Amino acid sequence: MHELNQKDQSLIWHPFTPLLSESKPIVVTEASGVFLHTLDGRKIIDAVSSWWVNLHGHSHPHIAAAVAAQASRLDHVIFAGFTHAPAITLAERVLSILPKNQERVFFSDNGSTAVEVAVKMAVQYWRNRGIEKKRIIALDGAYHGDTFGAMAVGERGLFTAPFSDMLFDVNFLEFPNADREQRVIDQFKKLVSQGDTAVFIYEPLVQGASGMRMYREAVLNELLQIAHSHDVVCIADEVFTGFGRTGKYFASDYLEQQPDIVAISKGITGGTMPLSITSCSDKILDAFRTDDFSKTFFHGHSYTANPIACAAANASFEILTSEVCQQQISMISRTHSDFVTELTNYPVVSNARSRGTIMALDIKTNEGDSYSNALRKKIYPFFLERDILLRPLGNTIYMVPPYVITEAQLKAVYDSIREFLSKVAG
Ligand SMILES: Cc1ncc(COP(=O)(O)O)c(C=O)c1O
Repeated sequence: MHELNQKDQSLIWHPFTPLLSESKPIVVTEASGVFLHTLDGRKIIDAVSSWWVNLHGHSHPHIAAAVAAQASRLDHVIFAGFTHAPAITLAERVLSILPKNQERVFFSDNGSTAVEVAVKMAVQYWRNRGIEKKRIIALDGAYHGDTFGAMAVGERGLFTAPFSDMLFDVNFLEFPNADREQRVIDQFKKLVSQGDTAVFIYEPLVQGASGMRMYREAVLNELLQIAHSHDVVCIADEVFTGFGRTGKYFASDYLEQQPDIVAISKGITGGTMPLSITSCSDKILDAFRTDDFSKTFFHGHSYTANPIACAAANASFEILTSEVCQQQISMISRTHSDFVTELTNYPVVSNARSRGTIMALDIKTNEGDSYSNALRKKIYPFFLERDILLRPLGNTIYMVPPYVITEAQLKAVYDSIREFLSKVAG
């Protein structure tokens, strides 16, 4: 075993990885564009954008230059009582593409904390107004992160089982699959008409971690319309779907009904630095505009609005909003959609789907769809042996590539998926 792997094994505890896992992590020495370069000389296509964060390819020179310049100008400063241009520029830019009702941003540093902030903001909104509303509603299968609040509003299962007694109560609606939309709407109406619902939180149009499950904008529009008419605070968790992933800047852009609060992270810095934003509408802000000190939003992190992360995000924004990048997003969306049409011909594929740059398919097994489906143990090594990083969600194979991927590279990955379907799954 290489010395780095030996040290890694004795010193480091990796995320979502059993401590006694036999497979050793691959040592990556460099990354550029869609490729990860490994210590043993391989070039692996990062077809999942390293946990869905990378937008413009790895080590993008424009972002790297912005980070270097910022690091030697202003590295960090406490964000209470102080501010800086990179954060202000970023706030202005992000608000210019967020749903129009979003007025202000609150910084934190990852997707879970963006959600944590969103939920706390919504709960305190009601408390500051002196209104007793406690019910929180989320969607079955939701994943909003790994901190306690984020776990509580997410699906209870494998990931949350050790903590189940410590999570606050949440009502979960059935996932609004096309065959049960009306039932979900009726369930929601029944709950909110009791008048005690404080919050509705959702991953708009695509649930990421639960298996890239997609649902229609019509049903979400209706749920949001019902929520608004019962004065329920709506939180869109766009941590995964933000910054072009679904083909538009935000999944909420497909909807007529807008959220009161939006959580974003992952792609915000193009996948280079940890950063997140929770934005909110004027309605939410209004409950905090008070001389009463006890109604302050007492939340913050040491690295809140880190200037280097903000500089990375500003550089990423410049690339994202360029015509070249928007054309790439359209090319990926079109190419995925054609592949999905072809996949419907495979009897082992149960649900091929795409939304923008996200493409997914479930493979039929007799275990049912789940994160722990045994097929994942075949899928991951099969693609790695072909120098493709496709980390499945159970029996769901999905692709969420960096936007710089070429059509030829996309097609090379599709070829390997075809090979898997015929050789292994067939
Ligand atoms: C929709 C959604 N919300 C929140 C999170 C948590 O983000 P992070 O891993 O940065 O804490 C994720 C992560 O996958 C996510 O997909």
